[in-house]
Amino acid sequence: MKRTLKPARRIKGNIRLPGDKSIGHRAALISILAKGPIRVTNFPRSADCLTSLETAKRFGVKVDTEDDVLVLTPPASISIEPGSIIDCGNSGTTARLLAGIVAGSNVEVTLTGDESLKSRPMKRVIEPLTAMGAEFFAEDGHLPMRVQGRKLSASGGFEYHLPVASAQVKSALLLAGLASSCAVTIREDTITRDHTEVMLGEIGDGVSVREIKPVMVPDPLDPRKRKMQMPENFKKEIKVSSKAQVTGGTIDIPGDFSTGAYFLAAAAISGKSITIENLGLNPTRTAFLDYLKSVGCDVDIKNRAIISGEPRGRVTVTGGQLKPKKISGELTVGLIDEIPIVSVVAAFAEGATVIRDAGELRVKESDRLTAISKNLQRMGVKCGLLEDGLVIEGGKDLSGADFQSFGDHRIVMAFSIAALFLVGPSTIDDDSIVSTSCAEFYNLLYAIAL
Ligand code: S3P
Repeated sequence: MKRTLKPARRIKGNIRLPGDKSIGHRAALISILAKGPIRVTNFPRSADCLTSLETAKRFGVKVDTEDDVLVLTPPASISIEPGSIIDCGNSGTTARLLAGIVAGSNVEVTLTGDESLKSRPMKRVIEPLTAMGAEFFAEDGHLPMRVQGRKLSASGGFEYHLPVASAQVKSALLLAGLASSCAVTIREDTITRDHTEVMLGEIGDGVSVREIKPVMVPDPLDPRKRKMQMPENFKKEIKVSSKAQVTGGTIDIPGDFSTGAYFLAAAAISGKSITIENLGLNPTRTAFLDYLKSVGCDVDIKNRAIISGEPRGRVTVTGGQLKPKKISGELTVGLIDEIPIVSVVAAFAEGATVIRDAGELRVKESDRLTAISKNLQRMGVKCGLLEDGLVIEGGKDLSGADFQSFGDHRIVMAFSIAALFLVGPSTIDDDSIVSTSCAEFYNLLYAIAL
């Protein structure tokens, strides 16, 4: 549906958000492998998470609702009719995590998805899962792909140093190991979101995590001096033992930080305050708060708690005079889902924001670098498109524009926030894709922007 958005007269509010999408996917998909029931509160009703839930049902998980709690009761053993086709819709997380579960189980299925998902790279999971012993049939590394799973049994366990910073790939391999009682060790150079290992630790056993810290060593160039050095060539190691299992238990999902980022950005641009209660604050997800602080906003966190291994709190952001900031390397990875809204904030900052090392954005739900630059240009922002990033010249009195959705929920949400601060009305050609992420998005937006 085409949507018209008018500039906001005021920004204000205190909101609560649906549960975190990444955690929701994991709760639904891990239930396929669990030994006992998993009780989930605040499960997100986003189309993507409902796809994972429907998928779990196809593998025999019983889904009941008791008041606000979703009870996921696993099957005695994983099974599905041979030749079954699972449609993962728009959800890369469903497709990649499920590829791991199927690869490590004695089942055969074909995974497919919508046009966007069919264009996204699957070689990143196909290659290591094939090395573990599963069989994949996929044209040119894309969906649809047929997966023939089996009991994987790399002697001495399977070790993998992630060549791409991807929580989805890491999770697929950990779940393949869990499914087939095969020891798996994953090493990361850049720390990615850790919800899989946190959840496996909370409702299961046999999973361990080691973070590598730099140590002081004598400087070979000057023995009187010492210098910091990493003792290993990776930053984090996650191990699933061959005895690992998910026993079951309770998972309480905090509000989705990545959805919260859009509303916090509205505070940042307007110079006003927005508060979000019970917002997920897992440190692998909150780089956007560091970004907001570094560009001139105030961030206040109260009511901190850790429930189900996931930190959360009441976050208030108050906007200020916005400055530009160079975004590259690990910061880009930490902001992987937030780059569209960071780009919108940057459009209202004084000066040029440079974003680098963001080539991964070209293979998300759309080519996000192109989508961002086209929409920024429509509102009068000078934006340079690089192979791996963007150069955004912030401006004042930017004009309302006709935005394109590119069939991408994060592009729609980011430019819906931009529209609140433009001169004159804006339109979005099709807003329906927001339900992929957060069906309540526009209700929340009208609650904070009048
Ligand atoms: C996700 C990981 C990220 C992120 C995606 C959700 C997850 O993808 O962009 O929206 O839940 O594991 P990659 O792992 O491919 O970077």
